[in-house]
Amino acid sequence: MMLTANGEIRVLGIETSCDETAASVVAWQDGSPPRILSNVVLSQLEEHAAFGGVVPEIAARAHVEALDGIVEAALAEAGTALDEVDAVAATAGPGLIGGLLVGLMTAKAIAAATGKPLIAVNHLEGHALSARLIGEVDFPYLILLVSGGHTQILLVEGPGRYERWASTIDDAIGEAFDKTAKLLGLPYPGGPNVERVAKGGDARRFDFPHPLKGEARPDFSFSGLKTAVRQAATAIAPLSDRDVADIAASFQRAIVETLADRVARSLERFRLEHPKSDAPTLVVAGGVAANGPIRAALLALCERHGFAFLAPPAALCTDNAAMIAWAGIERLWAGLSDEGDPMEMAPRSRWPLDAKAAPLVGAGKRGAKA
Ligand code: KG4
Ligand code: ZN
Repeated sequence: MMLTANGEIRVLGIETSCDETAASVVAWQDGSPPRILSNVVLSQLEEHAAFGGVVPEIAARAHVEALDGIVEAALAEAGTALDEVDAVAATAGPGLIGGLLVGLMTAKAIAAATGKPLIAVNHLEGHALSARLIGEVDFPYLILLVSGGHTQILLVEGPGRYERWASTIDDAIGEAFDKTAKLLGLPYPGGPNVERVAKGGDARRFDFPHPLKGEARPDFSFSGLKTAVRQAATAIAPLSDRDVADIAASFQRAIVETLADRVARSLERFRLEHPKSDAPTLVVAGGVAANGPIRAALLALCERHGFAFLAPPAALCTDNAAMIAWAGIERLWAGLSDEGDPMEMAPRSRWPLDAKAAPLVGAGKRGAKA
């Protein structure tokens, strides 16, 4: 790896896997904390709100329109000219194929024009390593990834070295929030709105199921919960504001209690397999990590198990390009080169971090849904 004159690595990151168009410049030098020189995120929330979810075609078009300007803004804010970056890192999967194409093609064009290396980054690796962007977290540690598309626990042993320990067998946790919100007539995105109305509700009024709770296997399940919420709502329709608040609060309680029970299995396993680790850490990432009661429950759980709990700030928990630039830096530093030529790499809608783990949901011709 060529370093700049002062021994610093500076990487431009690009993220377009879902509904955020993002670019960022991150700099790092051995012995110093990483520096986020810029972190520009354009959310397409408004484009998709009317449809109650992300529409892939709209997302791809919005990425095409916005990305060049977002990259320029990230470079300008970082005070960095294109020829001063050491590499370009772009999300190559998993995600919506249209958006991935836009980001990867743009990164390839920049790499070809400047002669800088291209690093094709797995979006999940971006989330998994983002904790090291804000604090000193040593390998190995556990990450709980909870977003609209993912619910999984990974053992992070180093860049490129992951073991998936748990995963949802049906819906993602954010999906459960979004579907419940839709059912209750709350606007998209559902998570923050369910949390908001739940504050005024009675969390004990409904006893919703706690899927897989108490079972030895460490996985997650949310689709039964969604069905129970629908049945409860149908039974008492039309819903008053009070009903909506009580259902939201009861749903959130079930989610929080189930999540804590499921995550505990992996904390116990980590203790068994890494008895010498004196500072075990659980990191949480993904949009659902913004939820107050979920954060509080995970913090309490970690305290009970003697784990440190790390929740990166919201801007780094949700989709962003700083985590992609940082994953690029970690990969460069670890001397990891992609299999094959990244300039030849095609984006992958499915790309599990742990290729050995059997898919629990959505196995298809293209491989496991991560
Ligand atoms: O990580 P993210 O921004 O995008 C991806 O899915 O990759 O996560 C979005 C998800 C949505 O399902 C949204 O409803 C959920 O995170 N979310 C929340 C909260 N804020 C966002 N869920 C529960 N409580 C919240 N406060
Ligand atoms: Zn994400």
